[in-house]
Amino acid sequence: MQSKSSFDRLWMPFTSYQDCIDNPPRIIEYGSGIYVFDKEGRGYIDAIGSWWVNIFGHNNPEITDAVKKQLDKIEHVIMAGFISEPSLELSGLLGSILPKNLSRIFYSDDGSTSVEVALKIALQYHALKNSPRSEFVALGGAYHGDTLGAMSVGMVPQYHSLFHERFKKQHFTDSPYCYRCPAGKNCSSCNAECMDSLQKILEEHGEKIAACIFEPMVQGAGGMRIYPEKVLKRIFSLCKQYDILTIDDEVAMGFGRTGKMFACEHAGKTPDIMCLAKGLTAGYLPLAATVVNEKIFKEFQGDYKSNRTFFHGHSFTGNPLASAAACASMKLLTNNNIPQSLNNIIETFSKGLSNFNKFDIVGDVRSIGMVGAIELVKDRKNKEKIPADLRFAHKVTQRAHKYGLLIRPLGDIIYFMPPYIITEEQIENMFFLTEKALKETIDENISDLR
Ligand SMILES: Cc1ncc(COP(=O)(O)O)c(C=O)c1O
Repeated sequence: MQSKSSFDRLWMPFTSYQDCIDNPPRIIEYGSGIYVFDKEGRGYIDAIGSWWVNIFGHNNPEITDAVKKQLDKIEHVIMAGFISEPSLELSGLLGSILPKNLSRIFYSDDGSTSVEVALKIALQYHALKNSPRSEFVALGGAYHGDTLGAMSVGMVPQYHSLFHERFKKQHFTDSPYCYRCPAGKNCSSCNAECMDSLQKILEEHGEKIAACIFEPMVQGAGGMRIYPEKVLKRIFSLCKQYDILTIDDEVAMGFGRTGKMFACEHAGKTPDIMCLAKGLTAGYLPLAATVVNEKIFKEFQGDYKSNRTFFHGHSFTGNPLASAAACASMKLLTNNNIPQSLNNIIETFSKGLSNFNKFDIVGDVRSIGMVGAIELVKDRKNKEKIPADLRFAHKVTQRAHKYGLLIRPLGDIIYFMPPYIITEEQIENMFFLTEKALKETIDENISDLR
């Protein structure tokens, strides 16, 4: 048994103190495939891939083996003047799946640092060109990580408002939130009007803007807001029109998650800078990459006197163990022909999800690739929100945990991002358990929902 004092010392991420007391974290001892198991041997379907990182299941034999083999060689070595073999191999493997123009890879540790690197590269790129561009434009509803730079381009009020008041806030467009379209359109009438706001910002401030950063196709932490490719195309075309660098944050959606290797492929466009993390190591170890095209890299070429060095790095940059995991993950992607081979499972996933439409409390069901979400509302007809104090989605997910399903809410949204290796039967079970938890939570809160 874990002693009480161990819990007393913990400060859990994204969790209030009281919630931690009311629902102490379950201690997970091992994992296998889509399951994680607690100390009592109780299994939980990891329906959100442990915060979207796990794409090939827990304790995947190939990745585990690659890390073990590397551990017998070297755990870590500085990446400046020296480099480990797996880090070098990884750049080749990544190069073989990246869009052709993205040719230079800079490693860091996690999604947030990959974004910090992207923002810094964009700023230094303009400085090197003697351009005054030093501001960023981002999308309303965006989430790019929790470090200060990444937060400055984030717009999820619950996470960011406090900090925006205290440091530089950037420019924000409307959110491409189709269920609550800011332009009052629907799927058939949409012409990417939400990005009129981007056009306006670029018209007014374009000369000052260093880059436009966006999550392609899905705004994840903002509430799994899935938007159409025409919106992404418009972002790219407006940036081209106003000569603005594009930073495509594929931290959550890269490596096949949306049904394409990289989500920017839905628009048939390649960004100037791309951020990668999460699925890079298939959830084994922290590692990230910021990838840029030669136009950008060219500005950083020069000797030590030229001031063209990019002064950025982390102690664990290019960590060999993480790189070995990433190499194995990249090989699994290509050897298993991902994303094409996911087509059948994606169909089962989206069909199973659409079944939630039968509940009056479900206002919207949306999915793309292996990302699915249901948005809960008090009144389906007018999309009235459930009173926040009821913490309805939170209650559903707490109940689901009891039934062996690991899900987390995003406000009133319950979402699923399981590992790609999930089977049809496991998908059915995942939705069966969700439905059970949802029904029981509705029954228990029926008077407050009226
Ligand atoms: C789009 C996006 N960018 C950046 C991040 C930050 O990644 P990390 O949590 O690894 O710092 C996230 C995390 O969810 C994300 O979804």
